[in-house]
Amino acid sequence: MDKIFVYGGKKLQGAVKISGSKNAALPILMASLLIDEPCYVENVPSLADIDTTIGLLTYLGKKIEKNDHRVYIHRDGHLKHTAPYELVRKMRASNLVMGPLLARLGKVDVSLPGGCAIGARPIDIHLKAFEKLGAKIKLEAGYVKLNANELIGNRIHFRFPSVGATENVLLASVLAKGKTTIENAAREPEITDLAGFLNKMGAKITGAGTPKIVIEGVKKLHGAKYRVIPDRIEAATYLITSAITKGDVKLLGVEPNHLKAIISKLKKSGMIIKTGKDSIESKWVRTLKPVSITTAVYPGFPTDVQAQWMALMSTVRGKSEIEETIFENRFLHVAELQRLGADLKIKGNSVHVAGVKKLSGAPMMVSDLRAGAALVLGALAAKGKSVISRIYHLDRGYEHLEKKLKGLGADMRRIHS
Ligand code: UD1
Repeated sequence: MDKIFVYGGKKLQGAVKISGSKNAALPILMASLLIDEPCYVENVPSLADIDTTIGLLTYLGKKIEKNDHRVYIHRDGHLKHTAPYELVRKMRASNLVMGPLLARLGKVDVSLPGGCAIGARPIDIHLKAFEKLGAKIKLEAGYVKLNANELIGNRIHFRFPSVGATENVLLASVLAKGKTTIENAAREPEITDLAGFLNKMGAKITGAGTPKIVIEGVKKLHGAKYRVIPDRIEAATYLITSAITKGDVKLLGVEPNHLKAIISKLKKSGMIIKTGKDSIESKWVRTLKPVSITTAVYPGFPTDVQAQWMALMSTVRGKSEIEETIFENRFLHVAELQRLGADLKIKGNSVHVAGVKKLSGAPMMVSDLRAGAALVLGALAAKGKSVISRIYHLDRGYEHLEKKLKGLGADMRRIHS
């Protein structure tokens, strides 16, 4: 398994190009299951999760070519309706095949995803919504099996604005008979992007990006060309890189409006941030102040940036509090950051941070994608050498991480072992 060696303490400076959004590209690629016409998607990042998605779609019968950041989806033949355990266990978002396959084939069997490092992550909200659209649900031999002769639009009220459930319902209801209304829908930019792609395919969706989405079902969709939005979580991670290394980093190809929560916290801490149309410059000019955060659904502070913010606050003298409200077990990075000398105490769903004068390099192990980003940030700020193992988690979500960080002046290398 590969490892990353990081020699910390360097000020990172320069420009970095932000990749396309992983979490937007995944459901957009899944939407190709709705049709047997060609689609062309641009700005798709080269990541392990994208390869897993293409592998799953190919297994199901799609013909796909990926060329750099462009994905061509050709006409398909006969589609399978089963997503097996070996593919679903690699990536929880595989459950996004449920909506489109149910809509297109009237049936779908998906291996239950099970828990993961950041919590149990049930799919009850997805299933209840499919039932409302007329699907029958069976749980059998570790699979959830959905059947529907016909999907019929309905009013669906989510008990929580789940991102995945909103996407799955969009993907199913675009071909349902009549009107579907999702209340308390997720508002994340990735939802708006999926709705944008579906509308280009001929769907009739209004209200994406608000808590109420209305979908007028259509009989048939057609092929489309689309460009995926920039990755706001990758962008946030590089903004925090500039703060934790006392650097000056300019992000290119980014959507500043998607990053308001992070930008406002960074400014509050003392960073100088200038936004352009599709760029953000983030500059360290003075000692930062501690700033507490509470994760929340969009447009609140993203749970996917909680770990990175904790790494930053670990280096900012004074006390802050990090509260996690989206996932129940998302503090696996705490023990690893403590190995660098961070002063962190878990109290229920919060972590009390007392910033230290300096972190010192140490061996660390990555538990999940965003925790991994936090460990890399900690290592960049720490004095001396850190060795980070299990970095395959990072390859799931950060395109060319070492190359981009080295381009900003980081001293790091990947060891293949
Ligand atoms: C997506 C993102 C992930 C991000 C998360 C929250 C992708 C591929 N992943 O994950 O990076 O951290 O949104 O912004 O886009 N829940 C239930 N029942 C359900 C569904 C969800 O209880 O049926 C709970 C989950 O356990 C979790 C919370 O709701 O505690 C949020 O989950 P959800 O919004 O669905 O996140 P994902 O779509 O899995």
